Amino acid sequence: MSIDEQQSGRRASRRQDGGTLRSEADADSLFDVRDLTIDFTGGHGPPAVRGFSLSLSPGRIVGVAGESGSVKSVSALSLIGLLPRTAKVEGSIRYRGQEMVAAPDRQWRSLRGREIAIVFQETTSALNPVVKVGRQLLLAGRRDNEKKYAVLDRVHAALAEVGLTDVERVMRSYPHELSGGMCQRVVIAMAISCGSKVLLADEPTTALDVRVQQEVLTVLRRLVANHGLSLVLISHDLGVLADVCQDLIVMYRGEIMEQGPIGGILRRPANPYTAALLASLPRLDGSATTVPLPESISSTRTEGACPFQARCSWSQDRCGTDPELLPLAASRTDVGNAAPGSRLVRCWRASDVYAGDQRADSMPPEEQQ
Ligand SMILES: Nc1ncnc2c1ncn2[C@@H]1O[C@H](COP(=O)(O)OP(=O)(O)OP(=O)(O)O)[C@@H](O)[C@H]1O
Ligand SMILES: [Mg+2]
Repeated sequence: MSIDEQQSGRRASRRQDGGTLRSEADADSLFDVRDLTIDFTGGHGPPAVRGFSLSLSPGRIVGVAGESGSVKSVSALSLIGLLPRTAKVEGSIRYRGQEMVAAPDRQWRSLRGREIAIVFQETTSALNPVVKVGRQLLLAGRRDNEKKYAVLDRVHAALAEVGLTDVERVMRSYPHELSGGMCQRVVIAMAISCGSKVLLADEPTTALDVRVQQEVLTVLRRLVANHGLSLVLISHDLGVLADVCQDLIVMYRGEIMEQGPIGGILRRPANPYTAALLASLPRLDGSATTVPLPESISSTRTEGACPFQARCSWSQDRCGTDPELLPLAASRTDVGNAAPGSRLVRCWRASDVYAGDQRADSMPPEEQQ
């Protein structure tokens, strides 16, 4: 089936099911997010996020990549109910089967910390500068009617688990008395002592030097392995995500451009934006990188067109219509051990990009005249 046939078939099925894309969700998913739209304009402009979907199973690590302004953080905030009230959210966010899109803040509060935690780049967002770290950990980690020594044991164990050796000193310190890497570990320890099942990590290592960054990533990997924690890791750095994640979501201007098992995507991208991000990574052999993204993300976008059209060297006339996010043709999903259909791409020319043949044209002959 050609990309054009897939695109028109998908549009028809969206009309029939009321506009919600349904694919097979994992039966044991913690998060099952479908066709999420987030609008800050009150309907007077394009939404910030369109058609965001994600399935997150226990013990799974999903990376989210994209340039600054791809709307990664806003997407993450929607998963913990921390969007400002001005945001109008449509679509579906199911957490353990509970629909959360229109849920009252009380329902979100019952999930925050106990089920879902978030780690930001700046730990100042999570730690109170005028309260000692130990007190903050004890307050956050205490469960109903729990004895103080029980929560203290759990907090000590969590701090040790994230690799903080002098636990007593850390407990007695104010946040400014600890290094950035130590504060980030404290925030992660807070999440595990609260019993969180899902950790949303928004650029958690961007402000850290390379060695500390590696240590924090090692801690996160260990927690996933030991506790079955699920992790959504947001990063500009595809290299970091490649080291840690099993699945990848590539975002551009609030839309998912490519999604699926990370190995296959990085070995052979099928969206020009993913290919451009990869080409802009520094090379270990010191050879010059191509300059694939000469303009900024704020370059103009024609409403209704592919969001990447203005910067895309693969662009054709049909890119004036935004393509759907579709499975890469089953015959091509063998790369990276992806099951057929598990790799989704938003591009009219996904097959050409995947084949690496910029001159090829997958347009059916009758449309080429
Ligand atoms: N409260 C808000 N009101 C209006 N628009 C907003 C709001 N929050 C975010 N946005 C929109 O989302 C865009 C940025 O989103 P976001 O911060 O999620 O991007 P990002 O991909 O996380 O960027 P970075 O990599 O720089 O952190 C803004 O350019 C703006 O258009
Ligand atoms: Mg951000």
